[in-house]
Amino acid sequence: MRIAVLRERRPGERRVALLPELLPRLLQAGVEVAVEPDVGAEVGVPDDAYAAAGAYVGDDAMEGADLVLSVQPINLATARALAEGTVTVSFLPPTQEMPLVRRLRERRLTAFSMDLIPRIARAQTMDALSSQSMVAGYRAAVVAAERLPRFFPLFMTAAGTVRPATVLVLGAGVAGLQAIATTRRLGADVSAYDVRKSSAEEVASLGARFVDLGLPPLEGEGGYAREMTEERSTRQRELLTPHIAASDVLITTAAVPGRTAPLLVTPEMIVGMRPGSVVVDLVADQGGNVAGSVPGQELSTGGVLIWGGQNVPSQLPVPASQLYAQNVLNLILLLVRDGRLHLDFDDEILAASCLTHDGEVRHRHTQDLIGEVG
Ligand SMILES: NC(=O)c1ccc[n+]([C@@H]2O[C@H](COP(=O)([O-])OP(=O)(O)OC[C@H]3O[C@@H](n4cnc5c(N)ncnc54)[C@H](O)[C@@H]3O)[C@@H](O)[C@H]2O)c1
Repeated sequence: MRIAVLRERRPGERRVALLPELLPRLLQAGVEVAVEPDVGAEVGVPDDAYAAAGAYVGDDAMEGADLVLSVQPINLATARALAEGTVTVSFLPPTQEMPLVRRLRERRLTAFSMDLIPRIARAQTMDALSSQSMVAGYRAAVVAAERLPRFFPLFMTAAGTVRPATVLVLGAGVAGLQAIATTRRLGADVSAYDVRKSSAEEVASLGARFVDLGLPPLEGEGGYAREMTEERSTRQRELLTPHIAASDVLITTAAVPGRTAPLLVTPEMIVGMRPGSVVVDLVADQGGNVAGSVPGQELSTGGVLIWGGQNVPSQLPVPASQLYAQNVLNLILLLVRDGRLHLDFDDEILAASCLTHDGEVRHRHTQDLIGEVG
């Protein structure tokens, strides 16, 4: 069995799906590895390092591969070039990739999506959404600290006392908690809000204050948030306004699985912030929590800087690749038995994360969408 690791095709993608240090584990499992030249260029890993670890390096790495590995979904041309039955493993959010899903089905490719790994204890080592969110949360904190024209910590010096920066984090999931932990480590005065009940305790455990708006929690399936009604949304914005106005830094990370990110912050709420304040909208590329944030851009409005996130984990490609590679390796080890591909759809992790197989869309929600749009 042969695995090919692709050089990422999408502009701006700096991560790589496999690192040389993980090759021994694959070779041990009886798998050959081929990588495209410059596959690790953006993370400072030369082709020689892959070759030294036992990989074949060549432009024809994909030829004859049984499994193709990447970070971003393969493109339509790659899907056309792969032989029927080839397995692909990558991020692949189905609702955003419908033309590719159709092509995968038509080409009878078997696609596993890292977006669909179930959040169960046994799959934690494969949970790439969490590992990449953790990277993004850290990055949000560092971006804010760098852009803010103030210190984060309290300083008491002979020349006087400088108050710490105040940080408010909206959405205390994996990314939000990491943003809280990092801004706390930098010494800021941090508070946070989330609609889930358990988040108050998680926020407090990191030494931050939970903002209690006195609204009922909004919890849906699997411990995720539910979508808000318009009424609740308006009330939440009203109640958050004074907290936002009092913050030097606002970091937003709120998301609801399968939906566009909820709008939590209106232009009027930004107007209330002090000039020099910084807003980091980590989910700008999923619709945005902040009105006017633009993915990949920094805009200034009334002296407030609004930084819009775009593929944020890729901005720290080294740890993001290390963690992603480990996540995909753990999934691949489930797909290989005695050096051969073995697709056991009785395994709930494989059953849940397989999007297409043998000319069919296996993921129920995507099946329904395809049925609707044809
Ligand atoms: N393996 C596992 O079991 C596993 C792994 C990772 C995460 N989780 C859990 O999943 C949950 C969410 O994880 P995530 O970070 O992927 O979530 P996410 O990226 O979908 O959302 C980020 C956060 O935004 C919050 N949010 C949504 N709408 C909001 C609103 N209107 N206002 C304020 N906040 C809002 C959500 O509650 C969530 O905490 C957490 O409970 C986390 O502990 C479990």
